[in-house]
Amino acid sequence: MTQTAARPVLTLPDAQTVTEVQHYTDRLFRFRCTRPKSLRFRSGEFVMIGLMGDPDPKTGKQKPLLRAYSIASPAWDDELEFYSIKVQDGPLTSRLQHIQPGDQVILRPKPVGTLVHDALLPGKRLWFFATGTGIAPFASLLREPQTYQDYDQIIMTHTCREVAELKYGQDLIETLRSDEMLAELIDEGFHEKLVYYPTTTREKSPRMGRITTLLQDGTVFAELGIDGISPKTDRAMVCGSLGLNSDLKVILEGFGLREGANSDPAEYVVEKAFVG
Ligand code: A2P
Repeated sequence: MTQTAARPVLTLPDAQTVTEVQHYTDRLFRFRCTRPKSLRFRSGEFVMIGLMGDPDPKTGKQKPLLRAYSIASPAWDDELEFYSIKVQDGPLTSRLQHIQPGDQVILRPKPVGTLVHDALLPGKRLWFFATGTGIAPFASLLREPQTYQDYDQIIMTHTCREVAELKYGQDLIETLRSDEMLAELIDEGFHEKLVYYPTTTREKSPRMGRITTLLQDGTVFAELGIDGISPKTDRAMVCGSLGLNSDLKVILEGFGLREGANSDPAEYVVEKAFVG
């Protein structure tokens, strides 16, 4: 008789079932899971997700191992999507990267975050600045009809080290352009509302360089035929490493934009991407 090792089944009220897993590189993967019926969130927010930790050697008790993850799916989706880095010695992602459909993850249904439409004052052009897995909240917002209803133009910039790390964003943009509901909102006939601006820093690609450099030397504006960033028309959301976030703050404030929050909307908002 053969025995197959049973996967541990969580009995916690916050357990959700994984429905799909896709690996992009040895550093990146995405997964989808069931959504608790009671979970309401605004596109762009994050929740705590994770797995049960190893049993405590003394007490034998297990505690959940949770990290903040931006929800990459939009608020209207029946399921939830997450885009994650794999850190080989990271307490959570060293294990999370091995999940498969049918497995369970823990999800604390308390969404929060500043990368939401409510934290920005009305404007004409919306910039999404992401590095690495920082694209996750924008994957949610780009699938949200309100994004296209509220702005004339949306510019999604994504900087990664290597070309393969852009794949998640490229697939997303392709899906948006072929989506019946959104395609109509994105393509106004005379111009595409959605501009995708990917760059790489460590592998050759059609556009190279950190987005911060390309903003500072004017390359972005010259390529897109835009005069510059102005607090009158432009709004921005930033999600990446601590370095990116602080460098972009300085750049955006140099253009006269002020940082907003849910309680005090202004011209730009920032959030740190999950890192390990
Ligand atoms: P670089 O290769 O020049 O460090 P990471 O994988 O380390 O999170 O980085 C993801 C991408 O973000 C890389 O292309 C990296 O460029 C870029 N990056 C890191 N720090 C900054 C920063 N301060 N400003 C702009 N881009 C950054």
